Amino acid sequence: MQWLNDRCQQQLDAADQANLRRTLKPVDMSDGRTMNRNSTSYLQFASNDYLGLAAEPVDLGVLQLSLPGSGASPLVTGYSQSHSVFEKSLASFTGYEAGLYFNSGFTANEGALSTLIQSQDIVFSDRLNHASLIDGVLHSKARSIRYHHSSVDDLKKRLEKTQPSEGGQRWIVTDAVFSMDGDIAPLAEIAQVARDYNAVLYVDDAHGLGVFGEKGQGSCHALGLSASDVDILMMTCGKAMGASGACVLSQQTVIDFLVQKCRSYIYSTAPSPQTLEVASAQLKKLMLADQRRQYLKELSQYLFDELAARSQQGLFDIQSESHELQGMHHPVHPVIVGDPAIAISLGQYLLEHNIIVGVIRPPTVPQGTSRLRVSLNAAHTFEDVARLLNVIDSYFAKSS
Ligand SMILES: Cc1ncc(COP(=O)(O)O)c(C=O)c1O
Repeated sequence: MQWLNDRCQQQLDAADQANLRRTLKPVDMSDGRTMNRNSTSYLQFASNDYLGLAAEPVDLGVLQLSLPGSGASPLVTGYSQSHSVFEKSLASFTGYEAGLYFNSGFTANEGALSTLIQSQDIVFSDRLNHASLIDGVLHSKARSIRYHHSSVDDLKKRLEKTQPSEGGQRWIVTDAVFSMDGDIAPLAEIAQVARDYNAVLYVDDAHGLGVFGEKGQGSCHALGLSASDVDILMMTCGKAMGASGACVLSQQTVIDFLVQKCRSYIYSTAPSPQTLEVASAQLKKLMLADQRRQYLKELSQYLFDELAARSQQGLFDIQSESHELQGMHHPVHPVIVGDPAIAISLGQYLLEHNIIVGVIRPPTVPQGTSRLRVSLNAAHTFEDVARLLNVIDSYFAKSS
C-alpha cells in the first residue's frame, strides 16, 4: 500500500534527522560480560541481567526437551502445574498471598492497572514511571495526575488538592527503581502517604528483584515494607532473574479478580510450561546469589563515585538524587549528555573501542536528557569498569 509506505517513510526520515531513529542489531552470543555481534566481541554494559544469570545454562532435567508450548490460553487448558508452582514460590518469597504470571512485565502492568482501576478512580503517578504503567493507567480511563519525580511533598499536595469522583478511590503508582536513572523511589514515605489517604499503592519492582533485599527479595523488602504496605507488587522475571515474563502479586481476591477480568491475561496463549520451569530454576539461583549481590553493590559504588567525580568537572550529568538510598546502590548508572547527537557519537566511540552501552534518547527519556545507560553485571570486573571509564574520558578529552 503506497500511502502506508509514504506515511511510515516520512516519519522514519524525521526520526533520522532528529537523531532519534532506533535500529535492531542482532546479537550472536552473550555470556553476560561480553557479547558477539557481526563476529566481533564486545564488552557489554547494556543488559538488565544484573546477576549474570541469563547467560548461564539451566538444567531442567527430564523437561529439557519437552513442553515447548502451552497450547491454549490459561482459562482453557494452558495453565499447568509449572505455572502454579512458580506463582506460589514467588508469592511466598515476597510475602504475598498470591501471584499471577504474565508473558511480560509490560502486559502485567498494562493488564493489571487497566483492569483494577475504575473510571471514577483517580491515579497519582510518578512523572518518570515506565511506559507500561502509563499505558495501564491510560487504558483504565480514570483521571490521572502526575507528581514530580520521587517528590513526596508534591504527591501530598496533589492528593490534598484533587478528590476522586463520586464512588471513586485513590491510587498511587510508582516504579521502585527508575530504569533509566537507577534511582530508587522513597517507598517508605510513599507507603505512609498511601495509608494517610487510603490510597492503593501499586509498585513496579522490575529492577529491584534480585538486586536488593535479603536473598534478593526486592526494593520494598530492603526498605522495610511488606504486603501490608504495598497492596500490589509487580516483579519481572526477565531482568535479574535471567528468565522472562512477570508476576503481579497481591491478595488472593485481587488475583482472582484479574483471572476473571484481565483481557491481556485471559485472551492470550499461556506461556509454555518450559518457560515457567526456567523461571522456577532461576528464582532458586537468584535467592542463593548473595555473594554476587554484595559484589555488584561494591562495583556500583565504585562506578558511581567515578562518574560523580567526572560530573563535578562538568563532563556530563548523573542522577545523584536518591541514587543511594539507605546503603542501596543500583547497578544502572546514567551518563547524561543532553543532545541525542552527542549520545550517539559517544555510543559509537565506545563501540569502536569494543564496548557496548545502551544509548537512550527521547521519548524513552525526557527531551534534553539523552544519555548512555551503563548497566553493571556481576560478571564484570573492576578492570572492565576502569576500561569503560578510560574510553569515556578519552572521548571527552578528544572533543574538548
Ligand atoms: C520498570 C519496568 N517495568 C516494566 C517493564 C516491562 O517488563 P518486560 O520487559 O518484562 O516487559 C520494564 C522493562 O523494560 C521496566 O523497566
